[in-house]
Amino acid sequence: MNPEEMVQSAAPSQGQPAASSTVIEVHNLHRTYSLGEVQVHALRGISLKVDRGEFVAIMGASGSGKSTFMNLIGCLDRPTRGTYLLDGHDVSSLSKVELAHIRNRKLGFVFQGFNLLSRTSALENVELPLIYSGMAHEERMEKAREALKAVGLEGREDHDPAQLSGGQQQRVAIARALVNDPSIILADEPTGNLDSRTSIEIMQIFQKLNDDRKITIMLVTHETDIARFAKRAVHFRDGKVRRDYILDDRTDANEMLLTMPWIDDDDDEEAEEAPA
Ligand SMILES: Nc1ncnc2c1ncn2[C@@H]1O[C@H](COP(=O)(O)OP(=O)(O)O)[C@@H](O)[C@H]1O
Ligand SMILES: [Mg+2]
Repeated sequence: MNPEEMVQSAAPSQGQPAASSTVIEVHNLHRTYSLGEVQVHALRGISLKVDRGEFVAIMGASGSGKSTFMNLIGCLDRPTRGTYLLDGHDVSSLSKVELAHIRNRKLGFVFQGFNLLSRTSALENVELPLIYSGMAHEERMEKAREALKAVGLEGREDHDPAQLSGGQQQRVAIARALVNDPSIILADEPTGNLDSRTSIEIMQIFQKLNDDRKITIMLVTHETDIARFAKRAVHFRDGKVRRDYILDDRTDANEMLLTMPWIDDDDDEEAEEAPA
């Protein structure tokens, strides 16, 4: 790497070692869906490199290929063409079983619709990924408790999703993504179902995980206001990268929340009527 490249790749992750390693590297990634006779070209040659500790917002209109891309990065799907190196390992040609193994070890997922099991406590929802890893019950409980604490849900372990607000459900989902100690969190429109203050609270958690634990975050959003909490923005259009730039003046969620009226997450209905 020449000195100029080093400066560029150090820029997105200030305060971290300049020689931070590449965690995601895709080259000329294509994904074509076959719908009967029709071929849908969802991705048309994406090349991208993401270093450890980056916080990337993937932006673009509906249908531009964002979710298709995240599914490939998350090893939930395989590309039609192109290469994908995850932590230096070529995962484009792995079997389904091998992909599932990598997914469980390295990746955490957060979705727009939370995807929690109903009639199942917060603690059990968070514990779930650990069951697959064969960990003992006591240790699973302890890890799940820790993860819930990290997202500010201490004391809610026994609540099931129906007893929690949308913001709290998304926190449970983030705890579940965290419990395996992933190096990357992939979040697809995680604030899509949340009001603006709650959305910022979720972004506050992502910023904290990124700052304190150096977890790499890839976040899909079509909202510019939400993308501003990231360190880098990548715009998709028609299955291609159109723009890719560093967000120098990114919004600090802690600061922003100080300027916003407090709404108690526990009493959504009352809070909406309370004077601002
Ligand atoms: N499973 C699928 N089968 C067929 N076409 C799909 C499938 N998933 C996505 N597509 C198509 O691929 C394109 C990209 O979709 P998607 O990745 O979901 O975009 P975005 O997340 O940016 O809205 C769209 O034209 C969409 O209709
Ligand atoms: Mg999508």
